[in-house]
Amino acid sequence: MSHTLRVETEPPYDVQVGEDLLGRVAGFVSRYSAVAVVSDENVSPLYLSRLGELAKGTVVRVRPGEASKSFATLERVLNELIAAKLGRDACLVALGGGVIGDLCGLAAALYKRGVDFVQCPTSLLAQVDASVGGKTAVNLPLGKNLAGVFQQPLAVFADVTTLATLPEHEYVSGLGEVLKSALLAGEDDLAALEASAVELVDREPEALEGAVLRSVALKARVVAEDPRELGPRKQLNLGHTFGHAIEHIAGFGVVPHGVAVAAGIGMAMEHASKLGVLQDGALPERVAQLSRQLGLPASLLDLEERFDLAFPEAQLVESMGFDKKNDGGEVRLVLPVRAGEVAVDAHFGGF
Ligand SMILES: NC(=O)c1ccc[n+]([C@@H]2O[C@H](COP(=O)([O-])OP(=O)(O)OC[C@H]3O[C@@H](n4cnc5c(N)ncnc54)[C@H](O)[C@@H]3O)[C@@H](O)[C@H]2O)c1
Repeated sequence: MSHTLRVETEPPYDVQVGEDLLGRVAGFVSRYSAVAVVSDENVSPLYLSRLGELAKGTVVRVRPGEASKSFATLERVLNELIAAKLGRDACLVALGGGVIGDLCGLAAALYKRGVDFVQCPTSLLAQVDASVGGKTAVNLPLGKNLAGVFQQPLAVFADVTTLATLPEHEYVSGLGEVLKSALLAGEDDLAALEASAVELVDREPEALEGAVLRSVALKARVVAEDPRELGPRKQLNLGHTFGHAIEHIAGFGVVPHGVAVAAGIGMAMEHASKLGVLQDGALPERVAQLSRQLGLPASLLDLEERFDLAFPEAQLVESMGFDKKNDGGEVRLVLPVRAGEVAVDAHFGGF
């Protein structure tokens, strides 16, 4: 079974979500004179062969992990494509998590002034978030994602069977973004997530397909409305201002991104309640219960206990001040109003 969702950007593209989709990619890119796969050393031994004949062509492998989102690795990828004599009518295929998608997307935008690329996300975070929307980037020593372009993929193939091998902490991190999407999408999605939480924790393919589909549908809708993040797309940062501060204070890599976002959502709930922005008084407890069911922290305290770390308020405030989404240096938050509605650009009034 698979489902197709259209992302109405310029140009538009399809996201396929389902089981055993990697076998379709070779046929989809058959019109290109040459195709190169970019992957990492964890994912390629597991899934490259599922790309069929593409596995026998040019394959660029990078080290797994965030450190590969660098100019040095980008340069190596571009050099390997040149060495393989890929022309301007080539297509790149990103096979891996968000690191590979961001790196390969940027390489595609730069290679000989731009070639097409296809996303084959293999982590939950990449399937529900990173592979859709066209943001590509590498990191700079002063921060994450500081050098990049908007470059929409030609298509996305989100094969949920690849998620079976994802390490547990990476999987739970992806669930943080699934929770965020459900909360933003509204009552139906939130109820569907509550109803499938047990199956999702067990990674049952049908539950996974549903969760990825609903998250992609939300992202596709928001991205089509605001491809360059000038307004409505900011809502996707729900839980992220607090979450980034948590990741920064703990030291990047200590608290997985989606786990920090889940704690951030709990903090945003508290804040919205305190400021009188929240209109549904039952929502915080409901979301907290769902977070715990998914194996995620429901609050900052939950996170502190789980990781045996302390996040002093003064440090959080200082770190939130560095968030690149802030406007003119003032801390802005996305706060929940009710399921399906948030206030963007809310002022942070302190803890
Ligand atoms: N472009 C966007 O809009 C966007 C959105 C969100 C996040 N991101 C970026 O995505 C990155 C995080 O993505 P991620 O969490 O996928 O990280 P990742 O790509 O580092 O993958 C996480 C780990 O899981 C491994 N892995 C991936 N798929 C696997 C599988 N099926 N089986 C076994 N192991 C597998 C990888 O090798 C890696 O070790 C960050 O760099 C972030 O900035 C981008």
